[in-house]
Amino acid sequence: MKETVRVLLSEEEVDQKISELGEQISKDYEGRSVHLICILKGGVCFMCELAKRITVPVSFDFMSVSSYGSGTESSRIVKILKDLDDPLEGKDVIIVEDIIDSGRTLSHLLKILENRKPNSIKLCTLLDKPARRTVKDVVVDYTAFNIPDEFVVGYGLDYDQRYRNLPYIGVVEFHEE
Ligand code: IMP
Ligand code: MG
Repeated sequence: MKETVRVLLSEEEVDQKISELGEQISKDYEGRSVHLICILKGGVCFMCELAKRITVPVSFDFMSVSSYGSGTESSRIVKILKDLDDPLEGKDVIIVEDIIDSGRTLSHLLKILENRKPNSIKLCTLLDKPARRTVKDVVVDYTAFNIPDEFVVGYGLDYDQRYRNLPYIGVVEFHEE
């Protein structure tokens, strides 16, 4: 099988949208600082590009989680593979994610992080697949793009750990050789 990647969102489109989000966040947090939490590994390219366009003071932290569980999807729990380095108390936190699909990972993560008493906590995602949402209590504050229900790669997102470095968002297509 040969694989090719069809461009869904070009590098220019993604850059433009991230600039807009950066401006919006800079306005919303005027006079404050933001503490960005990158969800590894998928959120890393997006967070770097976004952070460069935020004009208020910014700090970074990183977290890695895996969603697993037996049987039904709703019984899944989130396991922390790498926790944050710093406490969240009193901070204005923005969680930076690559994509929100069912919303399960984030719903669990929000509960864990809210317990650490940040001053505020918001959610920012590069991509959202609203059609796939099963958890209704996840409110996304900043979304770069809503996309259809297709498996996408690039800009941090992988297929089997590959394609994270593509500077655009694409869909993997398989062809007979
Ligand atoms: P959920 O919102 O808990 O269902 O899980 C979202 C996670 O699934 C994301 O953080 C990605 O790691 C992964 N994921 C979902 N859709 C895609 C996709 O289209 N491409 C690559 N990874 C995806
Ligand atoms: Mg992810």
